[in-house]
Amino acid sequence: MKLPILIHPDPRLKKVAEPVTDLSDGLRLLADDMLATMYDAPGIGLAAPQLGVATRLIVLDCVKEEGAAPRPLAMFNPYVIASSDEVSTYEEGCLSIPEVYADVTRPEAVTVGWVDPNGASREETFDGLWATCIQHEIDHLEGKLFIDYLSALKRQLITRKMVKLKRDRAREQM
Ligand code: NI
Repeated sequence: MKLPILIHPDPRLKKVAEPVTDLSDGLRLLADDMLATMYDAPGIGLAAPQLGVATRLIVLDCVKEEGAAPRPLAMFNPYVIASSDEVSTYEEGCLSIPEVYADVTRPEAVTVGWVDPNGASREETFDGLWATCIQHEIDHLEGKLFIDYLSALKRQLITRKMVKLKRDRAREQM
């Protein structure tokens, strides 16, 4: 089932999300719905706070080669165990900040720990786009957006644009 995605600015996007202590069927279903919502958008990552759910859950699939098999991942309580000194810069976007893209510099590779939907502890090192996406999504769990890496002026301009976009969308629905 597709779920509505919150658009910045929204106080629910600024909250620190709570750890998962009991991996229920409800949370597994939420992960499935988040993947469906992400693919439909389309996007390569989504965090539970973007749906107004203050839970440490992210989903992603950064496979972009044409015809390659998808790799949907759902991560409960994801955390960065280690990051590379080497950095890379990607033009990032966010489903909660539509049509806005900006360069963000982050560690090029990260080793991440998480709990998978079966309750198993997992650990893997990701690089390139995967590393960027995972760091972006984990930031959401801390109430942090990619525009927080930009200058205050740029952030204000983007926020103003989003306020207008939300107003326009609300009007269209009337
Ligand atoms: Ni995002």
